Amino acid sequence: MRILLLCHSFNSLSQRLYAELAALGHTLSVELDIADSVTEEAVALFRPDLLIAPFLKRRIPDSVWRALPCFIVHPGPPGDRGPAALDWAILEGRTEWGVTVLQADGDFDAGPVWAHAGFPMRAASKGALYRAEVTEAAVAATLQALARHAAGEPPLALPPQADGWRGVLPQARRAIDWARDDSATVLAKVRASDGQPGVVSRLCGVEVRLYDAHPAPAAAWAGLNGAPGEPLARRDDALLCRTVDGAVWLGRIARLDRTVSIKLPAALALADETAALPERVAPLTRADDEWAELRYAEHGAPGARVGMLSFDFCNGAMSTAQCARLRDALVEVKRRDTQLLMLVGGAGFFSNGIDLNTIEHATHRDGDSAADASWRNINAMNDVALEILTTTDRLTVSLLRGNAGAGGAFLALAADQVWAGRGVMLNPHYKNMGNLYGSEYWTYLAPKRLGTDGARALMQRRLPLSAPEAARIGFIDRCIDGPPAVLLDAALQEACAMAASYNLRDALARKQRTRAADEAARPLADYRQEELARMHRNFYGFDPSYHVARHHFVHRLPHAWTPRHLAVHREVAAR
Ligand code: COA
Repeated sequence: MRILLLCHSFNSLSQRLYAELAALGHTLSVELDIADSVTEEAVALFRPDLLIAPFLKRRIPDSVWRALPCFIVHPGPPGDRGPAALDWAILEGRTEWGVTVLQADGDFDAGPVWAHAGFPMRAASKGALYRAEVTEAAVAATLQALARHAAGEPPLALPPQADGWRGVLPQARRAIDWARDDSATVLAKVRASDGQPGVVSRLCGVEVRLYDAHPAPAAAWAGLNGAPGEPLARRDDALLCRTVDGAVWLGRIARLDRTVSIKLPAALALADETAALPERVAPLTRADDEWAELRYAEHGAPGARVGMLSFDFCNGAMSTAQCARLRDALVEVKRRDTQLLMLVGGAGFFSNGIDLNTIEHATHRDGDSAADASWRNINAMNDVALEILTTTDRLTVSLLRGNAGAGGAFLALAADQVWAGRGVMLNPHYKNMGNLYGSEYWTYLAPKRLGTDGARALMQRRLPLSAPEAARIGFIDRCIDGPPAVLLDAALQEACAMAASYNLRDALARKQRTRAADEAARPLADYRQEELARMHRNFYGFDPSYHVARHHFVHRLPHAWTPRHLAVHREVAAR
């Protein structure tokens, strides 16, 4: 079929559907939902058999849904309608939720239902649920809907549903009453609003939006005094905030008292106000309920031990400070007697490269600039990659539990082996960020796996890559099937078997020989220097594309057109 994807932005769910549909052999094109006339034009140019809207904020124009079947993917079960489905579900503590594929009929989320899929809810942010459970259910339901449609079957005959329309979730319902709300309520309110729009609140007398909340056990706030709503301590640039019955960690804050509001690490956003707070450093190995970004654990018998380092950075963005902490952690865990080191990123993202938000923030800081901050950040990223690349006394594995983009995708390649969950989407290219050249030793790592032409093609293509496709072309080594919940266990078993393997010594000797030969052929420092020379031009040169693209990305400015590599119908029309 010829399928047009119409979406507000080409987000993770749209990308995943794109990859699944492409793998089934459908002919695809994408149009971003910019204006009715643009959608009409896209339909006229592409002449699709079907339109799928995985992520839409506006109604599909009458002229389009009347002319061809338009499937809307709604993140709610049948009967649920409205623009804040997941927000309400989290806030109201629903235990089950779902996704419905329905046919547009001019009313919001109200047309005939073609398929639906359910899932159990878990204690996580809206964004995390969206990128995992919602995306899996959306893929299942969309493929079912397509199969029904292709087989000439009618939509599902569901019993009549009560009108489940829920409007936007107003800030008044999200607002935290620090004098009354217990930790569970604070967590639910922030999670229902994360990544957008956050919860408007006051911290240290400043009006802010709150994001990225984590529970804190009693041990985290023991001995610290403060009234509910007051920050008590810092950790990893997050703030520990007192509640009526305990405390919660708040990782991200956007100040609303500044002309420019950027979502930032909380202790950076309120740097002056929280400078005197104690730093509650968490050891790498600690109890499961003690939140911090980095965590380390060991598994397996002595002599066949696996070290597992996770780095759960909010949104997968890695600031200069986070890179430095990760590098220190790598140095520390490399002193341990393990035979294999597994790098498991975060649960939601493996990594999305340098932190564009803190870089954008530098624009507004006296004596700093976005160019300088970018330069510091890419060097810190490279230091992390180098620490992994030069680990030759044990095997290394990157396990992608969540998506990875730009430098984050290449960081994964610094390990000997790269494994990913089946639902993971990769964006192994930099050009979408204002033609950024990229670093993280990609000019060494990508051609090693794909050849020079393959690496160049990947960079030019600028399209997302599903884990199965990445495994097929050799960008990663293995794609692990099964739900995300079992992924870590399955990978760990595999890693323990490798660490206990009779030929471990041979594998290590081979690894050391290869690294030494590669270094002799061309030192890593040389790759780095050449990449950074190109990046220097991106950051400091005459062409401002990167700075413009970053500004648009961080401030979530609406798209003015659909990039040509997505809107292939426009490419064809232009010829
Ligand atoms: N720096 C700061 N924030 C980042 C980020 C980065 N490198 N990458 C992603 N994010 C944030 C997004 O702003 C978004 O924030 P929100 O929660 O406030 O909405 C959140 O992470 C999720 O990103 P989103 O774009 O919605 O996720 P996605 O899965 O749909 O798309 C990417 C993933 C990787 C394609 C997309 O986020 C992207 O292009 N990121 C930039 C990658 C990059 O260019 N890095 C710098 C070069 S190394």
